[in-house]
Amino acid sequence: MNASVRVQPAARVRGRVRPPGDKSISHRYGLLAAIADGTSTIHGYSTGGDCASTLGCLRTLGVQIDEIARDPVTGLEIRIAGRGLRGLRLPSGTLDAGNSGSTMRMLAGILAGHPFQSVMTGDDSLQRRPMRRIIVPLERMGATIASTDGRPPLTIDGAARLAAIDFEPDVPSAQVKSAVLLAGLHAEGVTSVLEPLATRDHTERALHAFGVEIRRDGRRVVLDGGQRLAGRELTVPGDISSAAFWMVAAAARPDSEVVITHVGLNPTRTAIIDVLRRMGAAIEVDGDGSAGEPMGTITVRHGALTETVITPDEVPGVIDELPVLAALATHGGALRVSGAQELRVKESDRISALADGLRRMGADIDEAPDGFHVRGARRLQGGEVDARNDHRLAMAFAVAALGAVGPTTIHDAGAAAVSYPEFFSVLESLRA
Ligand code: S3P
Repeated sequence: MNASVRVQPAARVRGRVRPPGDKSISHRYGLLAAIADGTSTIHGYSTGGDCASTLGCLRTLGVQIDEIARDPVTGLEIRIAGRGLRGLRLPSGTLDAGNSGSTMRMLAGILAGHPFQSVMTGDDSLQRRPMRRIIVPLERMGATIASTDGRPPLTIDGAARLAAIDFEPDVPSAQVKSAVLLAGLHAEGVTSVLEPLATRDHTERALHAFGVEIRRDGRRVVLDGGQRLAGRELTVPGDISSAAFWMVAAAARPDSEVVITHVGLNPTRTAIIDVLRRMGAAIEVDGDGSAGEPMGTITVRHGALTETVITPDEVPGVIDELPVLAALATHGGALRVSGAQELRVKESDRISALADGLRRMGADIDEAPDGFHVRGARRLQGGEVDARNDHRLAMAFAVAALGAVGPTTIHDAGAAAVSYPEFFSVLESLRA
């Protein structure tokens, strides 16, 4: 898992890629299938470690999950025998969410509505991440959650009857919104979440796909408790946050072109396309126009890179792409980001780890409490960097390394498997 990888510079990248199944959508389809009535079949479920953690937790909660097929291109096909609303079983052991904050936060919302005790933990990184953001609303709804100063492990005592709430999170977080909505399904009455800034809406779309009525009124999402879900057959589109590494690689290197197929085009995730266009990339998007989770093809070509600013209100839309956007700015142009203090509580402190790693490679980068400023006039040298066991940093450093004078050794690069196990082999295949 913690292997080092040596990445050589690349004059250009060219080719076609089908990214792995979307991590966010895979978690949600897995969780909802588990509490639905009847069986669900999910095609294209993510092959990454995080989504395997979700399935592992669900199995510990008595859910029967069968792997039907595993294909390096089309991903996993799984069948989940739903246990119905409130049907999860007293866990047979501690629930291990591994590296996955999404698993812990969203599953906590479901467990809050099950009248038994469960203990959820994770790896060293997850044990440092803030959970008060879900503990506070879930306790208001009637669950009891013990933690170590707001951090995992979490001991959740769920309640047979949760109370619906109107909740206004302080942080724009799809995971927090989702935890409350999932608890709201198990509550009596109408639960609503008013987001400070719009975040990804996969939970809302997934609930709708499983037959739940959910409404949006501006920035407020509203749901009636007690609705039952119906098992479904669903396909997970490719992950645009994984595709972003190839989009950036193509934007960065002269004479490059990468075509990304079967990629999710949910409008709450496509801000990366707008930012890349602003930074100078030439991008064509061809969508299938579907109402569920839209999917399509993105073609990215290199363009002259320019100085770009990402403002605080844009941050939730590109929260997972900021490390690789910083990597892009090391190839030319410049990038200034503010209002991104959430990056400090991701799988690592992504502001400090990013600044440290890119600086070791020779980058001109300033760190701020809530962001960073990268100036791309100085060519990277390469060298040795530490991904701090953070998948997105391992992959962002690899994309930065393509423009360096010499090779870059990335320690902890095995972390990429959390979301994109095939990342380094795809990288090699794109070298023209
Ligand atoms: C996710 C939401 C984001 C994102 C994470 C996945 C999701 O986290 O960074 O990788 O699937 O809902 P927050 O909602 O906590 O910002």
